[in-house]
Amino acid sequence: MTGSDFLHLDPAAAPPRERTTWLAAQLRTAIADGALGAGARVPPSRELAAELAFSRGVVVEAYRRLAEEGLLLAEGAAGTRVAETVPPATLPGPATDAAVARPETLHLSVGAPDLSAFPRAAWLRAERRVLSAATSRELGYADPQGVGALRIALSGWLARSRGVVVPPERIIVTAGVTGALSLTAQVMRDRGLTACAIEDPSADGNRRILDYWLDSLLPVPVDADGIDVEALTATGARAVLTTPAHQFPTGALLSPARRRELVAWAEQSDGLIIEDDYDSEYRYDRAPVRALHASAPDRILHVSSLSKVLAPALRIGWMVAPEHWHDDLVRKRWATDLGSPALPQLALAELIRTGALERQVRRLRLRHRERRNAAVAAVRAHLPDARIEGIAAGLHLLVLLPRHVDDTALAERAAAAGIRVAPLSAYRFSPGDPGVVIGYGPHSPARLEAAIAALGRLI
Ligand SMILES: Cc1ncc(COP(=O)(O)O)c(C=O)c1O
Repeated sequence: MTGSDFLHLDPAAAPPRERTTWLAAQLRTAIADGALGAGARVPPSRELAAELAFSRGVVVEAYRRLAEEGLLLAEGAAGTRVAETVPPATLPGPATDAAVARPETLHLSVGAPDLSAFPRAAWLRAERRVLSAATSRELGYADPQGVGALRIALSGWLARSRGVVVPPERIIVTAGVTGALSLTAQVMRDRGLTACAIEDPSADGNRRILDYWLDSLLPVPVDADGIDVEALTATGARAVLTTPAHQFPTGALLSPARRRELVAWAEQSDGLIIEDDYDSEYRYDRAPVRALHASAPDRILHVSSLSKVLAPALRIGWMVAPEHWHDDLVRKRWATDLGSPALPQLALAELIRTGALERQVRRLRLRHRERRNAAVAAVRAHLPDARIEGIAAGLHLLVLLPRHVDDTALAERAAAAGIRVAPLSAYRFSPGDPGVVIGYGPHSPARLEAAIAALGRLI
């Protein structure tokens, strides 16, 4: 039996320019259907390429993509086989949603970009350059605040892309948004701030980190204009975590009036606004909205990361804090772990310097827009009673369902049917309309259509 017979592949069905995507989709389906069971060997790439009359590169790339998704294991000379199980993350955080699924599960991951588009060649070039040029000093202990070359590069990047205009010495490199929130919460505690207001609904990873370090979280409702500042004022909080450019998960953009109200709240209450700028690179309806930071730099602690344009695995992010918070945050980082590893920071500086990061953002914006369009079309076709929100930006859609639907039960039924989807209630503090959050970043239009059609059948 040949490889392609075994897989029932019909190469004539492959669109000529999309053979890799087609082949990867066929293999995924074969794995999901059990035609390729756990541990099964897939044909050697050379053999399968010859049988399908494709170039070997097409097969190698399809295998690589599936390996990246945790579906295949490349074992060098021993060949490639279907993964048995995929290791679970031990401490669920923001990345968990973006992470791995069991091979048979179609994971409509929330928050993940298309990780198969990680610019491997550019990163390798940057690392090679860094390693050949790194001085002995650069191989020693780095500044806990972050490597100078990266902070210089970020200073330009933030000014250009987000309107955050600060000198390099005001930037603190962190282990993602999560690392920034963890440091901030610890310094808040040191200063006697043990409560933080947080949007309801909000990202569960952020919420769990703040909940770990602080005594209480004060939920504040959001509507189509973003966080409700009147309700925030009523909580009596002196710090708030918010996502102004793209509320997670509703997708609302903080309206100009609310921006003003929020800044006024901070001035009047001596408050701190923690601005999570998490996926602001992806705006599809207009030019990216400027970060809130410029409206009140001495009140706003701006945090963001590369998890949505490069990969969560890098664990690189940054924060720009009000001046009177800055030194305490750097000291906290020093006392915690002396800062982030220097070599990846230098490689990232190189990626920014050469324009590779900018190209990556542009490429991904186009790709994600196409995926968003496919997801929206599929929801309209297969869930006609649903209302879609948050389509103008980001990497996910919020699909609001008819009131009688129990979204948690639906997500459980979907999981049993092999589709992992996040129920809106998982992000809420208080009850509200049911819905599901559909992350489209990692999936091809065809996969999204199939998954959403299956979800429609379940409802
Ligand atoms: C709202 C929000 N902020 C930030 C992040 C990114 O966290 P990190 O930079 O730690 O990977 C996520 C990840 O899913 C998120 O959903």
